[in-house]
Amino acid sequence: MSTPPAPPPPSAPLPQTSDSPLAAPPQPPSAVRPLAKGTLGRRLVVRVAALVAVVAIGLSAVVALGVYNIQIGQVDARLDRAIARQVGPSSGGPGPGGQEIGTIIAIESGGAVQGVILVDRASNFGPRFTSLSVDATDLLGTLSLNPGDRATIQLAGYGLYRLTAGADDTRTVIVGIPLAQVTSAMTSLVVFEALLTGAVIVVAVVAARSVVVRSLTPLNRLAGTATTVSNLPLESGEVAGIVRVSPRDTDPVSEVGRVGLAFNHMLDNVEGALAARHASEMKLRQFVADASHELRNPLAAIRGYAELTRRERADMSPAMAHAMSRIESESDRMSTLVEDLLLLARLDSGPALDLKSTDLTEIVLNATSDARVAGPDHRWSLSLPDEPVVALADRYRLHQVLANLLGNARTHTPPGTQVETAVAVDGRTAVITVTDNGPGVPSELQASVFERFTRAEVSRARKQGGSSTGLGLAIVAAVVAAHHGTASVDSRPGHTVFTIRIPVAP
Ligand SMILES: Nc1ncnc2c1ncn2[C@@H]1O[C@H](COP(=O)(O)OP(=O)(O)O)[C@@H](O)[C@H]1O
Ligand SMILES: [Mg+2]
Repeated sequence: MSTPPAPPPPSAPLPQTSDSPLAAPPQPPSAVRPLAKGTLGRRLVVRVAALVAVVAIGLSAVVALGVYNIQIGQVDARLDRAIARQVGPSSGGPGPGGQEIGTIIAIESGGAVQGVILVDRASNFGPRFTSLSVDATDLLGTLSLNPGDRATIQLAGYGLYRLTAGADDTRTVIVGIPLAQVTSAMTSLVVFEALLTGAVIVVAVVAARSVVVRSLTPLNRLAGTATTVSNLPLESGEVAGIVRVSPRDTDPVSEVGRVGLAFNHMLDNVEGALAARHASEMKLRQFVADASHELRNPLAAIRGYAELTRRERADMSPAMAHAMSRIESESDRMSTLVEDLLLLARLDSGPALDLKSTDLTEIVLNATSDARVAGPDHRWSLSLPDEPVVALADRYRLHQVLANLLGNARTHTPPGTQVETAVAVDGRTAVITVTDNGPGVPSELQASVFERFTRAEVSRARKQGGSSTGLGLAIVAAVVAAHHGTASVDSRPGHTVFTIRIPVAP
């Protein structure tokens, strides 16, 4: 008998993603783009951009405010000089004398502004001025500037002015200097700052993007490997060839490298544990197969000797004769059990099937004829399609499946039960059903009826003369699974259907 392939030792060299044919593809289907919506990368870039924007805007505001204050300070110094020319000991008296172009002068006496003049041009004969409109007079009149106070107002038609007042014994003089230069300088500064801030944000986003993408790429590779491993069918025994994180992502200096290294260690452990489990399972299967095989010969001898005593039984005491017949029937039962165990052990260690194009209707026909002979007290019927139903199947094993199902329909139902076997084709699937109107599979068994050693209490099957092992349906399930098919049961009292589905030949 064939020996199952030895499982790989746990210490076998492990494949790496970078150089193994089993390596994960560099960009597994589940990998997300580094800056896709909701990713850490995107959040980082957005936060860095927001931070840079806040800092840049804050800095610009502070610079603009500082420059504005300096400029206003300079204007105020000019205002002080201008007011000194109007009032005070060294003043030249009211009038435009010595004032800068653009200066406005308002003289207030007796509680009312008397008139406002604007120094608007210089000539060889000293500064000239024009009188300003009544509006300006009114506006300045409503301002209650005490000497030394300063204010900034919008003079309709003349722009922004910085004002201060001075007084001597008889009158108050308000002097204003236009802020047009300051305004235009500030506008240029703010525009420049806005452009600079925008540029800084763009540069920050581009730089953050590239840093983030570069930093997160190993993490994405790690996630790809983890996804590949998580999709492996680890429950199915053979475990060799679990991919590993590639060596470039296992540098313990970096955070991702540490995760990668730990992940590889974990995979080593998992692979070792799975390999050990697989090895012990294989050993156990091998043991069951060997034990069943070895039990066949002594059992055959026991059965043979028991049979030999049949002729002498008439001469034996009734008790002795009974004992001998029990030995014979129990050794028969044991033979069935051993054959079933051996078959299951063989199916477990890999489906050793002889798959050929096989007409299922023929198998069903033969199995039903056998059942008819074995169970003459039951009513057997058969429903076959006109055309052959050809599938890639192991004729001998499939016959056994049918024999088990029909045997159950015979042994687990009372005489007179109607059993119908049918073959049909549903698309690309052949459907074989065995239906009986017996008492049904006990409800507590239904969920596990295809598992090993699941059977109803022995007495009923024995009563029907069968030898119940609880392995019949387990063999059905294993053989059908080896044919890439499914076996199922639907049972209630008076109606039990076992359904086998296997793909038809392409
Ligand atoms: N056609 C059926 N009608 C009622 N019970 C059934 C039928 N087929 C199977 N069973 C139940 O399922 C159990 C398991 O069947 P099986 O695996 O073939 O073991 P065994 O026939 O050796 O008992 C049986 O013991 C029986 O209780
Ligand atoms: Mg059975």
